[in-house]
Amino acid sequence: MSGVLENDTQKTFYLETFGCQMNVHDSEKVIGTLVHEGYRRVETVEEAGLILYNTCSIRDKAEQKVFHRLADYKKLQAQGKRFGVLGCVAQQEGEKIFERAPHVSLVCGSASYRKLPEMLARIEAPVQAGKTEAGTTGSRTTGAGKREAGELVRITGLDDRQTDECFETEFTARSNPHRGYITIIEGCDKFCSYCVVPFTRGKERSRTSDSVLAEAKRMADAGYTEIQLLGQNVNSYKDSAGKKSFAELLAAVGEIPGIRRVRFTTSHPRDFGRDIVEAIDAVPTLCDHVHLPVQTGSNRMLDAMQRLYTREQYMERIAWIKAAKRQISITTDVIVGFPGETEDDFAETLSLLDEVGYDSVFSFKYSPRPNTPSLVLDDAIPDEEKARRLEVMMARQKGIQTTRNQKQLGEILEVMVEGKNETRGQWIGRTSQNKTLNFTAPAGTNPTPGTYVSVIATASFPNSLVGEMVV
Ligand code: 5AD
Ligand code: SF4
Repeated sequence: MSGVLENDTQKTFYLETFGCQMNVHDSEKVIGTLVHEGYRRVETVEEAGLILYNTCSIRDKAEQKVFHRLADYKKLQAQGKRFGVLGCVAQQEGEKIFERAPHVSLVCGSASYRKLPEMLARIEAPVQAGKTEAGTTGSRTTGAGKREAGELVRITGLDDRQTDECFETEFTARSNPHRGYITIIEGCDKFCSYCVVPFTRGKERSRTSDSVLAEAKRMADAGYTEIQLLGQNVNSYKDSAGKKSFAELLAAVGEIPGIRRVRFTTSHPRDFGRDIVEAIDAVPTLCDHVHLPVQTGSNRMLDAMQRLYTREQYMERIAWIKAAKRQISITTDVIVGFPGETEDDFAETLSLLDEVGYDSVFSFKYSPRPNTPSLVLDDAIPDEEKARRLEVMMARQKGIQTTRNQKQLGEILEVMVEGKNETRGQWIGRTSQNKTLNFTAPAGTNPTPGTYVSVIATASFPNSLVGEMVV
């Protein structure tokens, strides 16, 4: 085995993405960069010369997935394939990854994707005799004896994303031609006691509004009609040029000719201002949807989680949203089984679900994460109890969603067409409220993805609506 790749796998890569939209968008940057470097993306690990995982470390399960994948495909190293770990696990674990999975050549945190071309050249390079040191931030040749070529490269610095240019690469390859993401703020300074993000994504850094708007205009010119502004906490956006607040930026993106829908995620209740609701009222292109993670309904737990707001303050924000001119759908994230969570605390979360009437809830069992303050807390909740609470919560929420969706029957809703489910003979649409609306269309019409059509809702389920296109 020479370590030189077979011709058909040379400069091909496979990329699998785990985690949030931020990671999905980062992968678009990685794909664009690799394609610019002459790589071709393939759909299976077998066809690829380079196998990349863009990883998530928000919960232990997500983190373990990448190590399972690496173990599953370890044998492919003998064919000269290279492995790379990108994203949050790369940032968190650094060169420990080389020890745990010696067939990995490349470990790269999300702040360093602009350096990928240089890093790829190094891992693909023939090994130089006697070479024992490599990597910008002190990587080393652990496991090099098992390797056929190149250096081990690790770049996981968090501090090199301080200019506008660093939020995107020049080559971002957006996967959908109609709706696309724009990162407006990176990192998080909130340090909720359970959360690993401040350690994996680093300190908050905002992009100037001029740069965000220029990109949104370029996207509109290229035919995009929906833009989703991304950040770990978009509400603490601070235009470094001092021109626009987050709400003003939202409105300005919504006013760009050609843009029909603007979404944003994720919000932190502490920083969520009334001006955001006012912007939604004033600018029709801003979608009728707010994702406002609450995490728990108990003030005692909110305090332990260091969330910096009370249930009452959270409900005040919900009241602003409910007072808006359009009906805004509200979704949230909840963690069950945080250390010390009693039955009473959990009951408060359930009562909050009833009080708010969410359109959707993403619920998670608490997972202890490295470096986080909650790691040292006593009173861990046993896993079976966390699982029980999760189930109780999901059942409760299912009832709430059933009722909420039923209320939309008979409404005429505008959807963006996303595709077609051929087996069911239904088109798939998404409403401004971010609900899936599957619909049939009259014979002779053929709604195309990316267009907008009106649909009357005729049936409802807890997680979706069904309807008929109105012509
Ligand atoms: N355990 C479980 N869930 C978590 N989340 C963040 N950290 C943890 C953790 N340690 C959840 C929160 C957050 C969402 C993105 O993931 O609900 O809002
Ligand atoms: Fe996961 Fe958070 Fe990283 Fe997103 S930013 S991939 S949610 S750890």
